[in-house]
Amino acid sequence: MGRTDCVIQPLMTDQITLRRPDDWHLHLRDGAMLAAVLPETTRHFARAIIMPNLVPPVLTGADAAAYKARIMAVMPARADFTPLMTLYLTEETDADDVAAAHASGLISAMKLYPAGATTNSASGVADFDKVRGVLERMAEIGLPLCVHGEVTDADIDIFDRESVFIDRVLDPIRRKTPDLRVVMEHITTSDAVDYVKAANNNLAATITTHHLIINRNDILVGGIKPHYYCLPVAKRESHRLALRSAATSADARFFLGTDSAPHTDPNKLSACGCAGCFTAPNTMPILAHVFEDETALERLEGFTSLHGPAFYGLPVNEATLTLTKGTPAPLPEKLITAEGEVTVFDPGFDLLWQVAP
Ligand code: NCD
Ligand code: ZN
Repeated sequence: MGRTDCVIQPLMTDQITLRRPDDWHLHLRDGAMLAAVLPETTRHFARAIIMPNLVPPVLTGADAAAYKARIMAVMPARADFTPLMTLYLTEETDADDVAAAHASGLISAMKLYPAGATTNSASGVADFDKVRGVLERMAEIGLPLCVHGEVTDADIDIFDRESVFIDRVLDPIRRKTPDLRVVMEHITTSDAVDYVKAANNNLAATITTHHLIINRNDILVGGIKPHYYCLPVAKRESHRLALRSAATSADARFFLGTDSAPHTDPNKLSACGCAGCFTAPNTMPILAHVFEDETALERLEGFTSLHGPAFYGLPVNEATLTLTKGTPAPLPEKLITAEGEVTVFDPGFDLLWQVAP
C-alpha cells in the first residue's frame, strides 16, 4: 500500500472576536485635547486607567471627582466607556483621603512617578520613605499601586533606568510591603519581564503597543524619529523580543496598557521634544498583527480583555469587538485637535487588520 502523505494546511484566520478590550494605562489630558482624544479610545475600549499627570496633577479625591466629571462631560454620545480614575502619589498624599476615594469607588489605583522621571512628574516622589504610610494603607485596603519604574539619578544611563529601579526601589518597597498590589507599567526590558515572572500574583506589568513594535534603532538610526520617543525609552532588540514573548505568553500577569500619550506635533518636533506615542486609534489593529506574527492570535483576548480585569478584581466586559483581516486599511495619520495636530503612531507596516464597524 502506498504511503499517504499528510499535507498540513496552514490555518488561515481572517476574523477574530474578543471581549471588548480595556486599556490599563492611558493619558487623556484635559480641555480641548481631552475632547479630541477621548473618542479614539471609547471607539474600541470599554474601560481605561486614566493617568493623573495633568498640570496641576490629580492629587486628591476631590481632584479625581472633578477630572472624572470633565471626562464625562465630553463623552461621545452612545459611548459605553468607564474611566477608572487614579491619584498622583506625592510625599504629601493623605492616606485618609486615598482610603475615602477608594471606598467610594472613585479611584482604582494610585500612580507613583519618581520625581522628574517623565512628562509632568515634577511633583513625584523623591524620598520613598515619605510615602511608606500611604503604601501600607493601600496594602491594607487592597488598592493597587501603578509604578513608573525608572530611577532618575543623573549618573544612571537612561537605558538602565528601569533595571536599576527594580533593584533599588521596587524590590525594597515590595519586600517592606509584601501585601501591596503593584503594576509595573509600560515595561521595556527583559529584566522587568523576568522580575515579574519570578514574583507572586501581587505583581503584574502592563506592556504598551509601541514597545512591541520599536526598538532603540527605530528611534535613532537614519535620522532621529521624535514620534518614536517615549518614556521609558525603547531598548535594544532583545528586550523588544522579550516583551513580545511575555505579551503573547498567556501569562495573566502581563496585560495591555497602551500609554497612549498625545502631544501636539510642535511639542514633539522640537529641540526639546516631549515623550509619548499616540497609539489609541490603531492599537487594536497593530496588536492583531503582532499576535498573528507570533502565531498567538488566540491569546490576544487574554492580553487585552481578560488579564487586566482579573488583576484589578473587575468583571470582564460582556460586549465584544471583532477584528477582520483584508486589504490594507490606512487610518488617518494625524488627529486634528483645537490645540494642534497630533501624529498617530506609525507601526511601519500596512495594517491589514481592522476593527469591524
Ligand atoms: C507620558 C506623557 O506624555 O504623559 N509620556 C510617555 O512617554 N509615556 C508620561 C509617561 O507615562 O511616562
Ligand atoms: Zn504613561
